[in-house]
Amino acid sequence: MKSAEVRRKYIEFFKKRGHVEIPSAPLVPENDPTTLFTSSGMQPLIPYLLGQPHPLGKRLVNSQKSFRSQDIEEVGNNRHTTFFEMLGNWSLGDYFKKEQLPWIFEFLTKELELPKGKLYVSVFEGTGDIPRDEESVRIWKNLDVPDERIFFYGVNKNWWSRSGEPEHMPPGEPGGPDSEVFYDFGEELKLHEKSPWKNEKCHPNCDCGRFMEIANSVFMQYQKQADGTLKELTQKNVDFGGGLERMVAATEDTSDVFTTDLFTSMYRYIEVLSGKRYGENQEETRAMRIIMDHIRAAVMMMADGVLPSNKMQGYVLRRLIRRALFYGRTLGLLKDWNYIGQLVEPIAQIYGNAYPEVVTKAGEITLLLDEEAMRFGRSLDKGLAEIEKLPKLDGKIAFQLYETYGFPWEMTEEIVRRNGQQINRAQFEAEFEKHKAVSRTAAAGMFKGGLADYSEETTKLHTAHHLLLASLQKVVDPNIKQRGSNITAERLRMDFNFARKLSDEEIKKVEVLVNQTIKENLSVTRVEMDCTDAEKIGAQMEFGHKYPDRVSIYFVGPQDKFFSAEFCGGPHVEHTGILGHFKIIKEESAGMGIRRIYAILEVA
Ligand code: SER
Repeated sequence: MKSAEVRRKYIEFFKKRGHVEIPSAPLVPENDPTTLFTSSGMQPLIPYLLGQPHPLGKRLVNSQKSFRSQDIEEVGNNRHTTFFEMLGNWSLGDYFKKEQLPWIFEFLTKELELPKGKLYVSVFEGTGDIPRDEESVRIWKNLDVPDERIFFYGVNKNWWSRSGEPEHMPPGEPGGPDSEVFYDFGEELKLHEKSPWKNEKCHPNCDCGRFMEIANSVFMQYQKQADGTLKELTQKNVDFGGGLERMVAATEDTSDVFTTDLFTSMYRYIEVLSGKRYGENQEETRAMRIIMDHIRAAVMMMADGVLPSNKMQGYVLRRLIRRALFYGRTLGLLKDWNYIGQLVEPIAQIYGNAYPEVVTKAGEITLLLDEEAMRFGRSLDKGLAEIEKLPKLDGKIAFQLYETYGFPWEMTEEIVRRNGQQINRAQFEAEFEKHKAVSRTAAAGMFKGGLADYSEETTKLHTAHHLLLASLQKVVDPNIKQRGSNITAERLRMDFNFARKLSDEEIKKVEVLVNQTIKENLSVTRVEMDCTDAEKIGAQMEFGHKYPDRVSIYFVGPQDKFFSAEFCGGPHVEHTGILGHFKIIKEESAGMGIRRIYAILEVA
């Protein structure tokens, strides 16, 4: 089945069961400092899973653009991708297990016509006070899934939260047990993939490649408490996610997601450019998969406004592009740095209908990719010169080359061999692990102070963020629009379009206006309204965001004479008076035509 058909069937199936379709949120989450990218459909829905009423009701469905950078090193096998589309349906305190599992089974077996005999399911085996999920077992059995195809797993496999197992969840984070469906591609797969289970017992969740997870129903009914316990949420939610690529692969009974229609026109392009054939040689096929995945993800990110840089999302984007360029060497595409730009066209063809922004921005994205490729060429020269100068290379230096010049390990290794130097991959990996541990700690810090915990400080800064945007428009330029945002408990950060540095005087004036608005103690109110009405009154929208018909708008000041109105899910303070004293601590460039402001709130 083609991807567009699977996507459409899924949305229609749930619409028929009372769900309202919501648009995909952008890949870069706004006002959510907990993560760099939208990595699942539930992420933009956190406030509603925690109990805030959604303007479109209790049953929602969509296809969400998602990106998971943690999978970057896995890409190259038959099923891992960094970018993917997640088909999702949600019950916000409405239906639960007895509706969800039969619906998903019906969708997979009737709409997608997957043979029942090829489906395996997994169920949560229980932990501490949370019991084994007997109800799901009963439901699966009623659907004629036999015992031998029902598997039990613990918190490492059948518990879902954005931070994984319960002990890793920060206070405030929702999560719960889940029940997954796996498609069996058959035992013969062990002949094609490097399968660890040749010598071990295979099971659906062993990740050897024979089975592929295609559906995950999370029963999101718990919230982590400050004392470390899990408490039942006031509402029991369903959060379903299924990878579109994987579902399409299952309908075609192919274990290789890269041979589905989402990728075929891309690899045909690469085949023409390189003269190599997909599937003929293992190393070359791996390189093609990495290039396809990374450039597709890069294009989708750029379509949502991310620019290559050395920080945050821009850094991940740059890394994707450089890795793709590096793997082009495996295909003999060494000198044609600009070949990646040529992949924009097939990507725009595949995604144009679902995500028109890819088409409208195709020209701009191609130029950016070409420029990045040239820059990497120069960086490569510098890095190579650096390596020549070094008497001895160790893992630490290899990691620095990776960090500074974007040299993937494979590239450093190849050069060093050629030079007769000795280097050990284990040392490089040890450095990498250290780096990952530091990032995890930093991310946990970010998380703790983030909106997910609804801390008082973060909530105040979130309201101050709205005041800042409105003040910039009133004092500096009415055309200013927000281009990115990040809020922790300590400070806010806002990116916006503006061509030059702000003068000291402008900064001062903005601060004065925000502080004046704080002193006026204006009310902050949330109003649900039609999207068209919100647009008419000039409410600020998030860049690149497609909105549903009914939206939630936060007004600062009276609705008929507001100081600020923004499309936003909250949370916010009720009156500006409690914010304290607003201060801009830094103003800097964040890329071409983009400025960045850091600001804090001090005790008044
Ligand atoms: N949140 C779950 C996942 O990402 C289900 O949507 O798998």
